[in-house]
Amino acid sequence: MGVEICVEGLTKSFGHQVIWQDVSLTLPAGEVSVMLGPSGTGKSVFLKTLVGLLKPDRGSVRIAGRDITKLREHELYEVRKLFGVLFQDGALFGSMNLYDNIAFPLREHTRKSESEIRRIVLEKMDMVGLIGSELKLPGEISGGMRKRAGLARALVLDPEIILFDEPDSGLDPVRVAYLNQLIVDLNAQIDATFLIVTHDIASARQVPDNIGLLFRRELVMFGPREELLTSDEPVVRQFLNGRMQGPIGMAEEKDAAQVEQELAQLGNGTQTPGSQALTPRLLPGPGILRPPRWDAIAEREAELRRRKAVADL
Ligand SMILES: Nc1ncnc2c1ncn2[C@@H]1O[C@H](COP(=O)(O)OP(=O)(O)O)[C@@H](O)[C@H]1O
Ligand SMILES: [Mg+2]
Repeated sequence: MGVEICVEGLTKSFGHQVIWQDVSLTLPAGEVSVMLGPSGTGKSVFLKTLVGLLKPDRGSVRIAGRDITKLREHELYEVRKLFGVLFQDGALFGSMNLYDNIAFPLREHTRKSESEIRRIVLEKMDMVGLIGSELKLPGEISGGMRKRAGLARALVLDPEIILFDEPDSGLDPVRVAYLNQLIVDLNAQIDATFLIVTHDIASARQVPDNIGLLFRRELVMFGPREELLTSDEPVVRQFLNGRMQGPIGMAEEKDAAQVEQELAQLGNGTQTPGSQALTPRLLPGPGILRPPRWDAIAEREAELRRRKAVADL
């Protein structure tokens, strides 16, 4: 089962540029969370800070009871094995075929035999629907296949936590829909804790259990999808509805008077507070898996925990 990640008072700057400050949130074990935010708000920096690739100025990131911001490099190396990361471009080695790309972490981090490696690599390639493409080079396949190859590689060490950096970037809407379903299916199957960074609103509405929004160097909100999708907070509403009217401007910020005027106009009879539609979450399905494996998928343990948490809201 996945592990909980508890972030408290996290602040990160580069030189004089504060990226975000005082970010606190808990990613519940086994649940899918999405972090939204306009480009350049530090979403990738946030993911890198969670895996210990970047050190925050202040705050803590507790994973399995340990504050990873305080660990030394060799201790971090152990903690990183808990993570699978799908980088924005899939980060595959261009000169290696898919099989070798996906086998890479196993050859680097374990002493498994080649026959054991073969079993694991083919299992993960099967999970993401890539059987038959073992010998293809990353340059020979579509963007969607590259993402799935990156995902298979993120799965080979059986991670407790999977971080996705804009998995939907560069994909057409149909490929995004397939990938979203795959993410939901995988989460139900392996019960790991997922964090997805994206600015795709449709994905944010359908995929996660929890949603957060980074804006103006702050975490505006983080909570169960039910809370965020029905929120009246202007920044959240503007972002989730993809509107020009609201606090988020072309250059990120607008002046307060303009925002007030726009929101007043929007409010003219068209919207009542709390009336936002709560899009249903995608249900886990057999996806790419063949039916016999599907029988083995029980209800997510995380689902039972969160149902109780949401009922207590
Ligand atoms: N290693 C770095 N050194 C200095 N500045 C950085 C570094 N990485 C990211 N930044 C800056 O941090 C800001 C946020 O970047 P990023 O996390 O990539 O945004 P997002 O992923 O939300 O689009 C950007 O202004 C970027 O230039
Ligand atoms: Mg980014």
